[in-house]
Amino acid sequence: MQASAVAHANIALVKYWGKRDALLNLPAVGSISMTLKDLFTQTRVEFREKLTKDELILNGQPAEELATARVSRFLDIIRRKAGISRFATVESFNNFPTGAGLASSASGFAALALAGTAAANLDLSPRELSILARQGSGSAARSVFGGFVEMKKGESTDGSDAFAVQLYDENYWQLDMLILVTSEAPKAIGSTEGMTLTAKTSPYYSAWVQSSADDLEKMRQALAAKDFEQVGEISEFSCLKMHGLAISAQPGILYWNGVTVDLIHEVRRLRSQGTPAYVTIDAGPQVKVLTLPEYSGALVNRFISFPGVQSIIHTTVGPSARLADGNKRVSD
Ligand code: PMV
Repeated sequence: MQASAVAHANIALVKYWGKRDALLNLPAVGSISMTLKDLFTQTRVEFREKLTKDELILNGQPAEELATARVSRFLDIIRRKAGISRFATVESFNNFPTGAGLASSASGFAALALAGTAAANLDLSPRELSILARQGSGSAARSVFGGFVEMKKGESTDGSDAFAVQLYDENYWQLDMLILVTSEAPKAIGSTEGMTLTAKTSPYYSAWVQSSADDLEKMRQALAAKDFEQVGEISEFSCLKMHGLAISAQPGILYWNGVTVDLIHEVRRLRSQGTPAYVTIDAGPQVKVLTLPEYSGALVNRFISFPGVQSIIHTTVGPSARLADGNKRVSD
């Protein structure tokens, strides 16, 4: 009763922020993301007879109680589905900083969903896996798939229509992403807490929810046309709108540091001089720069010495989640 799986992180080009149901983790808005090749989580799950509780080893260290409890609640869903009662040892390794707005919960829960169900001898369809992963973290529903992925917000109260679908696989269009790391400290306020506070207190929340369908439709069209300028414009707009919304909560949620702001200005300056580059930022201070492959080298050179940039991860579109042994891919 053991299995290992790999799932890649993803970055939303049209952002998800807000839940229509906190318990089932149902999103209030849909989202569209790009899966990343070079950021992944590898997770091994073993259901064992002798354990008296679940164990989580994260990057080689026993995890904090809160993280273990979150994983344990997720394993409960798998145990219920499989009709088993054994506790599990979960060993998870991220090849990138954990919890700093680099989407570790997305790849983490997608890998856990796949490894956990395989270890429990459950054979779920990609859609069922996405629905399961969503219950760990909203963005994890998207990390089940590679390429360009759309998360459907769904309408039903049981969450059966709130899953991600692959729009295009990773070979459709090579876009590059440069992740400019400005801080490796864990974020001050988690996404769930941030979303709840925003929905409760921001006067702009209903406008955010209402305007989302339009962004999604424009992004679908831009991806279908491989129109980089449009993809970039909508991404940057959706990102700034999400952060404007979070800032408008009470008390305001500000994920950026000073370097984040300097980088936004610099990317816009470079763009005004002809470099096709757009920013997107998640629940943390890192700046992700979306660009075309032929411009990546010059952008890395520009940002490697930029004051406050600690490191750069240069990546491109990545594949679906897969079992580590046998290489069975979710989209197969
Ligand atoms: O899935 P969560 O709870 O980690 O929330 C993700 C929120 C953002 O990363 C800010 C946006 C997104 O769509 O990924």
